[in-house]
Amino acid sequence: MRRLIVSDIHANLEALEAVLADAKGLYDEIVCCGDLVGYGASPAEIVEWARKDVSLIVRGNHDRVCAGLDDHDWFNSKAQAAVRWTVNELTEDQLAWLAALPAGPLFVDGFMLAHGSPADEDAYLMEYEEVYTLVEMLVRPICFIGHTHFQGAWTWYRDDLYALQGPVAGRSETVHQLSPQNHYLINSGSVGQPRDRDPRAAYAIWDSATRELHLRRIAYDIASAQRRILDAGLPQFLAERLATGH
Ligand SMILES: [Fe+2]
Repeated sequence: MRRLIVSDIHANLEALEAVLADAKGLYDEIVCCGDLVGYGASPAEIVEWARKDVSLIVRGNHDRVCAGLDDHDWFNSKAQAAVRWTVNELTEDQLAWLAALPAGPLFVDGFMLAHGSPADEDAYLMEYEEVYTLVEMLVRPICFIGHTHFQGAWTWYRDDLYALQGPVAGRSETVHQLSPQNHYLINSGSVGQPRDRDPRAAYAIWDSATRELHLRRIAYDIASAQRRILDAGLPQFLAERLATGH
């Protein structure tokens, strides 16, 4: 089974369309680690796409807040503005669908799926110390996550932890051969608002037969996504940051 792994689309239709075009023919089903909405200007389109085409999904913190399951006091002012705008854009039916998304982790075949961490859906996993002890939580040897908007993976080997990188600027893909003996925590990166200083949309393809993990980046029409954000009256910063990937 070949799975397209996407996360943190954040209502960026231009970025999602570029990913789907780039990955065309390379996958059998789509898996999403959450944050469909928030920040970008196409939440309704992204929700409808997910309802129709995504096989497996966990909710993200922005999905939870926009669905009214949590208040947005802990968001910064720009994210709060995006929440208020997003709620107005979605129908009752779309909001109810968002509210019903499961919290991670989900367990499927040989892998698991979470938004922030298998231990806490809101945790940001960035540092060695935070990730190292999580191997205890990996009920399956592979866990896909999102939330940080940084693409990459970690693996445990002989009591140590190693990072697997995504493609550097100028390259569109890195391929990692995953060992059946090891555990992996994999962040496919953010489709719609990368923060690892590479503005290209990020995603992954996991082929469970060949055990190849493809970490991929694709350029998209950032100017169009920015225009849509500004036309919607969303904060200018949310448009600007798409160009820097930061
Ligand atoms: Fe996110």
